[in-house]
Amino acid sequence: MNYNQILKNGKNYLKKNKIKNAHLDVELILSKVLNRNREEIILNLNKNLKNTDIMKFKHYLFRRYQNEPMAYILGYKYFWKHKFLTNKSVLIPRPDTELIIEETLKYLPNNNSKKILDIGTGSGCIVVSLIKERPKCAATAIDISINAIKVAKTNAKLHQLENKINFINIDIDKLKSYNYDLVISNPPYINSIEFNRLGDDIKSHEPKIALSGGSDGLKDLKKVIFKSKKLLKVNGKLIIEIGHKQKNICTKILNENNFYINKSSKDLSGKDRCIVSTKLQ
Ligand SMILES: C[S@@+](CC[C@H](N)C(=O)[O-])C[C@H]1O[C@@H](n2cnc3c(N)ncnc32)[C@H](O)[C@@H]1O
Repeated sequence: MNYNQILKNGKNYLKKNKIKNAHLDVELILSKVLNRNREEIILNLNKNLKNTDIMKFKHYLFRRYQNEPMAYILGYKYFWKHKFLTNKSVLIPRPDTELIIEETLKYLPNNNSKKILDIGTGSGCIVVSLIKERPKCAATAIDISINAIKVAKTNAKLHQLENKINFINIDIDKLKSYNYDLVISNPPYINSIEFNRLGDDIKSHEPKIALSGGSDGLKDLKKVIFKSKKLLKVNGKLIIEIGHKQKNICTKILNENNFYINKSSKDLSGKDRCIVSTKLQ
């Protein structure tokens, strides 16, 4: 079988299960199998595949047919300006989360040496992207999942930051280190009704602990806000990602906990997604 035939068969197979972007996905899968870029494949469509490569292709194709996200099959996802390794222990970095990076950088001038905490670091995409931009800052990143911490550490190493970020496997409730200038968090914030409505690609493949914020979706957001009151210096900033219907309730909880709201920002589809606040006296 040649490249052209396997791509065509693969695309038709994925379409049977209504997989969107089937054409691109099969090209990316074949690139992974052959360890060649897509351009090389397109320029060699008449080239024949070895049987071992056909077997590998079928294995990955079946995973995609079963709705497994491409980021887990390929083992990486691009976020901000970098490539991040991903596996089933971590949430796949989302373009919407890049808003946190954009907003945080506004409060971190170049050559700034602030002390930063990332709560629920997952793949480490937020903290690694920030320290790449502001190398003089000192960062700690925590996650309740030991397997997520392993992935985050691997990503820090991949970007030569293994000695610059302190990764800790701990529940936010148990953290006892203080005086941060900035706390950033994209906590799990999906409520149970919305969780049940998630697509199979997300619900069956991404870690529930990274998505579900309890029945009202606020369990972990509240933990982050309550804890940040103690972790932050006076005038320190708390920058959180929120669900698109959580702006009013989160603003209220922040105000009740002595935070001043600096701003809220909308994501690429115009939905409320990020709140920047300041811890008052
Ligand atoms: C929505 S994911 C965010 C991952 C990553 N920061 C990102 O933006 O792609 C939330 C992360 O919080 C972690 N988490 C959940 N509950 C936690 C807790 N109580 N303490 C610390 N981390 C927690 C999960 O394991 C998960 O990695």
